[in-house]
Amino acid sequence: MVTLSDIPGRVLLVGAGKMGGAMLEGWIGLGLEPARIAVIDPGPPSEVAALLEARGVALNPLNGGPPAVMLLAVKPQVAPEVLAKVAPLAGPQTLIVSVMAGRTLGFLEAAFAPGTAVVRSIPNTPAAIGRGVTVAVPNAAVTPTQMSIADALLRASGGVEWVEEEALIDVATAVSGSGPAYVFLLAEALAAAGAQAGLPADMADRLARATVAGAGELMIRSGIEPAQLRKNVTSPNGTTAAALAVLMDEERGFVPLLTEAVLAAARRSRELAG
Ligand SMILES: NC(=O)c1ccc[n+]([C@@H]2O[C@H](COP(=O)([O-])OP(=O)(O)OC[C@H]3O[C@@H](n4cnc5c(N)ncnc54)[C@H](OP(=O)(O)O)[C@@H]3O)[C@@H](O)[C@H]2O)c1
Repeated sequence: MVTLSDIPGRVLLVGAGKMGGAMLEGWIGLGLEPARIAVIDPGPPSEVAALLEARGVALNPLNGGPPAVMLLAVKPQVAPEVLAKVAPLAGPQTLIVSVMAGRTLGFLEAAFAPGTAVVRSIPNTPAAIGRGVTVAVPNAAVTPTQMSIADALLRASGGVEWVEEEALIDVATAVSGSGPAYVFLLAEALAAAGAQAGLPADMADRLARATVAGAGELMIRSGIEPAQLRKNVTSPNGTTAAALAVLMDEERGFVPLLTEAVLAAARRSRELAG
C-alpha cells in the first residue's frame, strides 16, 4: 500500500480554497512533510494562509522542478485560464489529479502534454472534516502506482471509490457530490414540519439537526444496513410506521422523489461537463 510519504517528489496544490485547504490539512495531519508540498494560489483564505505559514509550506514557488503530483482544486470556471498557466510546470512523470466538478478527462488531457496521467475525481463537502467521500476515474495513462498515490491523497479527506467508466462520475456527482445538500434539506424540512406541528421553532431546529447527525453517526458506527436500522425503530402500527407509510408511498414517497432528483442532477452534470 502506498502512503503519502512514498510519493516520489513534491505535491503541487493548485487552488487552496475550501476543498484544496481541507485536503492540505488532511495531508499534513497524515504526516506528509510540509517541505514536500507547494501551493499555487494568488490569495488563499486567511486560515489556509496561516496554516501554510505555520507549517512552512511554499506558496507560489517560482521553481522546484516538475512535481510528482499536481492536484487541481480551483473553480471549474477558471480552469482554462489556470491550466494554461500551470501546465508548463508538469513533467512527463507528473500525475494530474483534479477535484473540479464537471471538468472531464478529455478537457484535462487537452491541457497537458499527450500521454499525461490524469485522474478526475468528485469529492463532497464533508471532506472539510475528513468525512467526505470521493469518486475517481483514471485515464489510460495512469499506472497502478499512480492510482495508489491518487487514492492516498484523496483518502486524506475521507473514503475513495474508483470507477472505470467516466460516465459514472455524473451519477456519483448526483449521489455523493450533491448528496449533502439533500441531507441538509431533510434537516430543514424536519425542523419546519416540527414547528408547524407545534414545537417552538428553535427547538424543532435543534431536534432535527441532532436527529440527522445522530442517525448518520449510528449508521456509520454500527455498520448495520440502513434498511435494518429503519426496521429496528419501526414497531407495527406505531408512530414511526405511521410516518413511513407516507414517506414510503410508492408513487409520492421518498424513493420516487429522490430518484427523480438524482436523475435531474446527473442530467445537469452531463450538461455542464466540458
Ligand atoms: N467545496 C466542495 O464541497 C466541492 C465538492 C466537490 C468538488 N469541488 C471542487 O473543488 C474545486 C474548488 O472548490 P472550492 O469550493 O474549494 O472553491 P474555492 O474555495 O473558491 O477555492 C478555489 C481557490 O482557488 C483559488 N484560485 C483562483 N484563481 C487561481 C489561480 N489562477 N491559481 C491558483 N488558485 C486560484 C481561489 O482564490 P480566490 O478565492 O482568490 O479566487 C481559491 O482560493 C472546484 O472545482 C469544485 O468543483 C468542491
